[in-house]
Amino acid sequence: MTAVGIDAVEIWTGKLALDLAETFAPRKGDDPEKYTKGLGLYESSFPDAYEDIVTMGANAAYRLMERKDLDPEDVGRIDVATESAFDNSKPVSTYIAGCLEEVYDDDFHHANKGERKFACIAGTQSLDDACNWIRAGRNRGRGALVIASDTALYARGDAGEATQGAGAVAMWVTEDPSLVELSTEQGYGSADETDFLKPNQQFPSVDGKRSIQVYLARMREALVDFESVAGKVGPEDYAYAPFHTPYPGMVRKAALLAYRHTIRGTEVEDALADEIGRQPRRADFADEEAFDAAIRDYMDDLKEQPAYHEWYDTHIEPTLAVSERVGNWYTGSVHLARMAALYHAAEADRDLAGEKLLVGSYGSGAQAEIHAETVQDGWREELDALSIFDRIAERYDLSFEEYEQVHDRHNHEKQSELEPFTTPEDEFVFDGWGPMNERK
Ligand code: CAA
Repeated sequence: MTAVGIDAVEIWTGKLALDLAETFAPRKGDDPEKYTKGLGLYESSFPDAYEDIVTMGANAAYRLMERKDLDPEDVGRIDVATESAFDNSKPVSTYIAGCLEEVYDDDFHHANKGERKFACIAGTQSLDDACNWIRAGRNRGRGALVIASDTALYARGDAGEATQGAGAVAMWVTEDPSLVELSTEQGYGSADETDFLKPNQQFPSVDGKRSIQVYLARMREALVDFESVAGKVGPEDYAYAPFHTPYPGMVRKAALLAYRHTIRGTEVEDALADEIGRQPRRADFADEEAFDAAIRDYMDDLKEQPAYHEWYDTHIEPTLAVSERVGNWYTGSVHLARMAALYHAAEADRDLAGEKLLVGSYGSGAQAEIHAETVQDGWREELDALSIFDRIAERYDLSFEEYEQVHDRHNHEKQSELEPFTTPEDEFVFDGWGPMNERK
């Protein structure tokens, strides 16, 4: 079967940055280390006054089309994943296509457009849809533009406020891709949950502590389900494991869970047995409660083991390097984690072609998906053409008062006027709220 996957990626970060330790923590009366060490976050991205999910998505897509020398005629499908949509009928992809048509002579009349919603996992679901459309032979030689765009804002004072972020990831999905091939094997963990909701409201209602438990439970189910189709996953089978990253601290918890699961029944578990014993087996316990307590004790011990730290430092930590500087991009988050991993390999001058990534996506409400990706021969060239860290470094640093103004500007109920902090250059801009307002 022909390889299908991601040929190239471009990102667009919201052009403003908030320093969590220097600027946010003191005004919240918090120890900065709660953010940098506890949550693992240093900065968040925010949209300037003239940015929204459409302009960020269109700017990322335009950058991608220009770099890959694509015309609208090459694009057979535009899928947008977002949990920040402002229109319950017309998909964001039509707004983005409208922007792009302003700068190309041609239009996208032939392209199938849609919008995917399932919290943060929608970005990966859109990617799956695009790959399946190509695998089914329905693409007529064209590729798919998959765009994950979000402004992840929380009400001021909400515990989630520290994890905000804004940006878009545009992915070009084709046959014989240069970056990664997606496996057709996927594992799912899905359940009706109410830990994170946005029913006709802009800012989410979140039960933060529960959302962590739900993330871990669904991710574990997805891993088990993935193994049922792809076979047992060993701790060294994958070069990196990019996970959905609402904040790096969440991934630290998921990583420990994944490590415990993957070492079960392996030589690694044997080697650790003298230090911390073997993993508790359910059959050895009278009830679920006692078993859970034993598992927690085992994980507490496992967390302290040098073997775990070494695995974490090489397979997980590198995936967090973008997220810790931009916050949660919801649908785009796991796709930033993948790119961070590839950057790490490039910096180490590692030849990654042929190696595998274990990608863990998650959406509240709730669903997790695990799939594998194989890094392709052209990965390094694609990566060298992309400058995520330069874009991040170019953002305007907000004071706390400016942050509050920006938050009010993007609050749909306030929509307050705000002079931009940066000057747009050759990019799509947004000049007001509501579907009839122009983006040009
Ligand atoms: N030094 C070092 N560490 C510190 C510290 C200090 N001074 N102060 C606190 N910490 C640690 C805490 O011990 C805690 O660590 P653990 O998680 O390992 O226990 C961590 O910093 C966070 O501290 P709190 O638990 O006190 O933080 P909080 O209650 O204010 O908020 C949160 C945490 C609930 C995750 C909140 O940020 C939130 O609601 N976020 C939005 C929801 C979310 O992101 N959930 C994640 C799963 S759902 C998902 O993934 C979907 C999605 O994208 C939203």
